[in-house]
Amino acid sequence: MGGGAEVSLLDTQEQALIAAAHAAAQHAYAPYSGYPVGAALLFDDGAVVTGCNIENASYGLALCAETVAVSKALGEGRRGGLAAVAVVGLKAGSAPVTPCGRCRQVLNEVAALGGTDPLVLCVSNNDVRRVTLSALLPHAFGPGHLG
Ligand code: THU
Repeated sequence: MGGGAEVSLLDTQEQALIAAAHAAAQHAYAPYSGYPVGAALLFDDGAVVTGCNIENASYGLALCAETVAVSKALGEGRRGGLAAVAVVGLKAGSAPVTPCGRCRQVLNEVAALGGTDPLVLCVSNNDVRRVTLSALLPHAFGPGHLG
């Protein structure tokens, strides 16, 4: 797969998406790591779907913010059209959050369904790193492999 259409956003769109991820992070349930994360997915119809990390007393069952957001989007019937993603970590002084390996794969599923290569905004309190999903997950395995 790969080769999806790369997306660029206006500055105002970036700021709005980051603000949505920031708002989502306020609902994070992260009592064990103390690392609240929010994610916001922008779709090509302008819709924004958000998620936050949800931890569990059985530590290994934690759900990342991006996975929660993608689950909501797919569960609402969205199949593709993913233009951009913002991921915000609220821990002071930490580097911009880059999606974990599992989240890269989970994001790739919805991106591949619509043939897009979403811009991923990785955000900390004082920094934004811009990268495409295909750069985060080169040579991705996706739905196209299954025919
Ligand atoms: N986390 C996310 O929500 N997204 C990522 O991409 C990286 C990690 C969460 C999982 C866990 O609740 C906390 O951050 C610390 O790893």
